[in-house]
This record gives sequence, C-alpha cells and structure tokens, in this order.
Amino acid sequence: MFFILVLLSMLSNVYGKLINDVNQLGTNGCDLFQGRWVYDDSDYPLYDSSVCPFIEKQFDCLKNARPDKDYLKYRWQPNGCNLPRFNATEFQNKLKGKQMMFVGDSISLNQWQSLTCMLHAADPQAKYISRRIGGTSIFTFPKYNTSYLMYRNAFLVDIKTENNGTRVLELDSLSSSAQWKEMDVLIFDCWHWWRHTGRKQPWDLVQDGNSTYKDAPRLTLYEKALNTWAKWVDSEVDTTKTKVFFQGVSPDHDNPASSGSNTCVGVTQPLKSTERVHEEELVLEKVLKGMNKSVYLLNITKLSQYRADGHPSVFGHGGHKDLDCTHWCLAGVVDTWNLLLNVLLGY
Ligand SMILES: *[C@@H]1O[C@H](CO)[C@@H](O)[C@H](O)[C@H]1NC(C)=O
Ligand SMILES: *[C@@H]1O[C@H](CO)[C@@H](O)[C@H](O)[C@H]1NC(C)=O
Ligand SMILES: *[C@@H]1O[C@H](CO)[C@@H](O)[C@H](O)[C@H]1NC(C)=O
Ligand SMILES: *[C@@H]1O[C@H](CO)[C@@H](O)[C@H](O)[C@H]1NC(C)=O
Ligand SMILES: *[C@@H]1O[C@H](CO)[C@@H](O)[C@H](O)[C@H]1NC(C)=O
Ligand SMILES: *[C@@H]1O[C@H](CO)[C@@H](O)[C@H](O)[C@H]1NC(C)=O
Repeated sequence: MFFILVLLSMLSNVYGKLINDVNQLGTNGCDLFQGRWVYDDSDYPLYDSSVCPFIEKQFDCLKNARPDKDYLKYRWQPNGCNLPRFNATEFQNKLKGKQMMFVGDSISLNQWQSLTCMLHAADPQAKYISRRIGGTSIFTFPKYNTSYLMYRNAFLVDIKTENNGTRVLELDSLSSSAQWKEMDVLIFDCWHWWRHTGRKQPWDLVQDGNSTYKDAPRLTLYEKALNTWAKWVDSEVDTTKTKVFFQGVSPDHDNPASSGSNTCVGVTQPLKSTERVHEEELVLEKVLKGMNKSVYLLNITKLSQYRADGHPSVFGHGGHKDLDCTHWCLAGVVDTWNLLLNVLLGY
C-alpha cells in the first residue's frame, strides 16, 4: 500500500513537472502548441480594438494607421484538435473572487492588455475599474469580482541602488515576491531586458552570491535569475492554491538571426516556416523541468515565430524612428496566447 502511494505520488510529481503535458489538459493528447495559422475572417479578430479605450498607443496598430488587415484574421489551428472558443463570461466566472497577476516586462503588459480587451469587449456595459498602485496596475470587474493585475518587473530579481548611486543587479534576491504569493494565478515573463547593454542596461554591477562582477554572458545571468525564481516557487508557493504559468520567450523579428524574416516591416502574412531555435527558451524549459512544483509553460515561442506580420512595425509608438518588431498589435497574436491560457487554466 505504502509502495503504491509512493509510486502514485512519484507519478503525479512527474506529471506536475511535465510542463506541457497536454494529456492533463483534457484534450486527448493533442498538443495545442503544434499547429498552423489559418485564415478565418468569420471569427477573427476576436474584438474590435476601437472598443477597448484603455489600450496603449504602442499596441493600437489600426489607430496608428496600419493599412493591411489580414494579420487580424488568423486563427491558430492545433494539429490534432481545435482550440476551444473563448467565452468571456465563462472565463470571468472561473475567476470569480480571484486575482490573476502578470509579472514581467512590456510583453506581459501586451498580454494583460489583450486579456482585459477581450473581457471588456465581450461585455462593454460591465463597469471596470483601472487603477495603479506603485508599480502595479489593477484592472477590476466588480460585476464578476475579478481582478487582473500587471506588475512591472523585467528581471524578476532585484536591482538595488547603493548610496553612491551604483545600481546592483542582485541575482539571488526576489524581494517583490511577497505580493505575488497572494495571487490565485501568476503568469511570469522574463528575457527581453537581459539583452540590453550600454545605456539601456539598468544596472552597473552584478551581485551573485558573495561575488560581484561587472557582467557575464546574458544567458548565464538570465538562467541564474530564473533559478532564483524557481527556488522561490519550489519553497514558498503553494501551487495547489496559486497556479503558476511562465510565458515562453516571445520571438522578435528584428534581426537577421530571427526566424526567416529579417524584419517585420512590410510583412503582411504569416511566415511559412520557422527555423531559428531560441536558446533563451531552451534555458527557460531547462529551469522549469528542474522544478519540484507544477508550473505551466505557455509555450508560445514557435507559434508566434510564424507571425512576423503581427508586430506593430512602424505602426506602434514611434513610426519609422522607433519601429517595433518585438511587441504585438492588439487585436492579434497575443489574443491566442490568452486562448491557450484559458485552456491551461482549467478549473
Ligand atoms: C514547446 O514547443 C516546442 C515547439 O513547438 C517544442 O519543441 C518544445 O518541446 C515545447 N516545450 C515543452 C516543454 O513542451
Ligand atoms: C458563454 O457561456 C455562457 C454560460 O455558459 C452561455 O450562456 C453563453 O451563451 C456563451 N456565449 C457564447 C457566445 O457562446
Ligand atoms: C471578491 O473577491 C475577493 C477576493 O479577491 C473576496 O475577498 C471578496 O469577499 C469577494 N467579494 C464578493 C462580494 O464576493
Ligand atoms: C559604490 O559602492 C559599491 C559597494 O557598495 C562599490 O562596489 C562600488 O565600486 C562603488 N562605486 C563607486 C563608483 O564608487
Ligand atoms: C558567503 O560568505 C559567507 C560569510 O563569509 C559564508 O558563510 C558563505 O558560505 C558564503 N557563501 C557562498 C555561496 O560562498
Ligand atoms: C526538490 O526536490 C528534491 C528531491 O526531493 C530536493 O532535494 C530539493 O531540496 C527540492 N527543492 C526544493 C527547492 O524544494
């Protein structure tokens, strides 16, 4: 008997750790993340961005005069099944009395805004309250008693400013995490800021255990930070109460190493193939697989890689001066991330 219990708990642990175990998702073994984009102008876009008054200018491509519209009309088609339609009422009811928080950089902001637009557009009469406390934006629907929060934190680990003005990246420290633990659902994201060097790099020194240094390969720093986060989840988060997700690395299309397209400028259709392997994503998967607690990977890297057409390009915040092949137009690709989140969320 004892042996069976141990075996069962080992199995469930393995299952829990298997971060993209779609069998657990009730989709009969269909991998929701493998598939293709199909043109579907009957159901897509899922909402009209002009009915979403709180959307940030940088994502509001139509308002910024993007002329082509096909990018709005692609639906993600998994190979072995259909992605369930999004029913905003059911989603809100699932989250009644709950708080969902996105923690990360502007790609998190992108997903948070997509979700709040999807929910608002489905019930535009329902009152919403949008407020900001410190670094946290809180979007509440009193009718459903649901809250969707956005906590800006690009590195997850801390950056502290010393008395002499030196900014120290503390790879072992996660001081913002006390707030995160209170949530019912957490969706993390990390990576893009690790690439920044020179003036865009927001720290001067790295503190790693007892040693301090100026810099190291960015994938190395990123992995150390992710490990600090993973240790925190394993030791502090009760994942039977708080569901933890990690957003896979969102692919850029702004350099020659990017998948198939050197740039997103002028791209109006999805790419036919994607070749580039994102090392950042492999590092993330390695860290997640090493964890003891159940964490869900929102494995959006590859499916988004096809969508060089989905970025704001010159129709974001900066026109040609500051073209954007990193974020995503809303409505658009990120809405699909939320459809996937909806399935993984279960309840
Ligand atoms: C994520 O998706 C990619 C490509 O679709 C796949 O190769 C990889 O194994 C997936 N990761 C996990 C953890 O399932
Ligand atoms: C969404 O779900 C609710 C409750 O299950 C149902 O009444 C409603 O018809 C659904 N809406 C759509 C558009 O399918
Ligand atoms: C709304 O949800 C919060 C938790 O987020 C809970 O404390 C509160 O009691 C709920 N209010 C109602 C009216 O259900
Ligand atoms: C600032 O202080 C830190 C230690 O607190 C030290 O490592 C660093 O060298 C100092 N920087 C300058 C510019 O003096
Ligand atoms: C850091 O230094 C402290 C005190 O000197 C020591 O106890 C600890 O083992 C060191 N930690 C590491 C990781 O080297
Ligand atoms: C994860 O599990 C292993 C094996 O049971 C254990 O040695 C390790 O301390 C655990 N890590 C955490 C952070 O709980």
